[in-house]
Amino acid sequence: MTTLHSDAFVFLGATGDLANKQIFPALQGLIRDEGFNLPIIGVAKAGWNLDQLKARAKESLEQHGGINQPAFEKLLSLLRYVDGDYGDAGTFAQLRTELGNAERPLHYLAIPPSLFELVAEGLAASGCSKNARVVVEKPFGRDLASAQELGQTLHKYFAEENIFRIDHYLGKEPVQNILYTRFANPIFEPIWNRDHIRSIQITMAEDFGVQDRGKFYDEVGALLDVVQNHMMQVVANLTMDPPTGEDHDAVRDRKAELMRAIRPLGQNDVVRGQYKGYRSVSGVAPGSLVETFVAIKVQIESWRWAGVPIYVRAGKMLPVTSTEALIEFKRPPRETFGEIVPASSAHMRIRMSPDMTIGLGVRVKTPGERMVGRDVELEMHRRAADDMPPYERLLGDASKGNSELFSRQDLIESQWRIVDPIMGNVTPLYPYEPGTWGPEEAHQLIANDGPWVDPKIVEDDPCAKA
Ligand code: BG6
Repeated sequence: MTTLHSDAFVFLGATGDLANKQIFPALQGLIRDEGFNLPIIGVAKAGWNLDQLKARAKESLEQHGGINQPAFEKLLSLLRYVDGDYGDAGTFAQLRTELGNAERPLHYLAIPPSLFELVAEGLAASGCSKNARVVVEKPFGRDLASAQELGQTLHKYFAEENIFRIDHYLGKEPVQNILYTRFANPIFEPIWNRDHIRSIQITMAEDFGVQDRGKFYDEVGALLDVVQNHMMQVVANLTMDPPTGEDHDAVRDRKAELMRAIRPLGQNDVVRGQYKGYRSVSGVAPGSLVETFVAIKVQIESWRWAGVPIYVRAGKMLPVTSTEALIEFKRPPRETFGEIVPASSAHMRIRMSPDMTIGLGVRVKTPGERMVGRDVELEMHRRAADDMPPYERLLGDASKGNSELFSRQDLIESQWRIVDPIMGNVTPLYPYEPGTWGPEEAHQLIANDGPWVDPKIVEDDPCAKA
């Protein structure tokens, strides 16, 4: 595998939403922080010219993170634009001309997956795909079969090691920090198993609805939008075995083993909900049965994890915006002091947003004659969540050929295998009121191991960035 730096950055879909919200801010950040200095070529079918793309870059940065004048000016000086239809060989010929002497371009396909084959073919026929890397975004298929098909399509034109599949959760500092904390501190590994851990729960709560993404969202729902991908990556970081070796596949290999050990979900492992009012969002089908909330029970069939339930819930229009994992340790074998201790008393709490916190929950004695205590949480670590925005980190890594933080075809297929049996409205859909923690049935799902512990938000917390 070549680890040479890419020598041109091409983004197809240059006038689209992803470019606007993520790619321009990431590029400005890479120029500012890493001295990124490559030709940057936008491609789109919009009838635009370079000046229009430059104006879009300015707007994008003004709205998403702000302009850093020197980096912005540098970005403008590097920017090129090719306008044309993706079905037209002339578009790719022009791209090849703009690439000039570049021999190892990176192509970011910020376009719908339905166009991947056409574009990959155009890149190949024009010589633009030679020694190239390609970056693609979710959704990677709509089910296992279509994910395999998409994989085969990409593999026709690009070797697996040159395909960079973005799951932006992997670019998040707090998600990386899970692995770091687990494997940089030898005290955790001996207790990180079924002997000491009773259950794990993960909550990804958002206090907003589907906003202007009704059409997109109504084709996916919460399970495919965030659970099958982002949350499964978090589950993997929390439960995978320690990596051996240092190459880019060391972590991904352990993750792949873990994902393969997850039992495919059955209908009793899932509760789906839809917030009241969702069906009137623009783009949503009037009688839509798509879920905006989902709770699942995951089971890992391995010696380390057999019998440890992992609950994951994710939803829109919940009371707060926060992502948090709670690892609940086993209780003492007997209550020495006859107290009624809350189930989640001994825990490790890993908050990924809005701030990054790692806390250890323990019981301490209340001063006095009686042997009674209270729960306290020792904060091991706490700071703002994202120093470097995920897209900046990921695009920087892709251009260096560092694939560790990207998903892999086998991982993607395992993720689909887990959710495939419960797709297609095979489970009931329960309504819930906006601003609540989803339908009552989600509480029943966790009843034997619960309750759910809701992330708490402290108003005016300086570490918490909304
Ligand atoms: C995206 C989903 O992948 O992740 C969105 O499509 C979701 O629905 C978002 O809101 C959450 O990511 P973040 O980084 O904003 O927490």
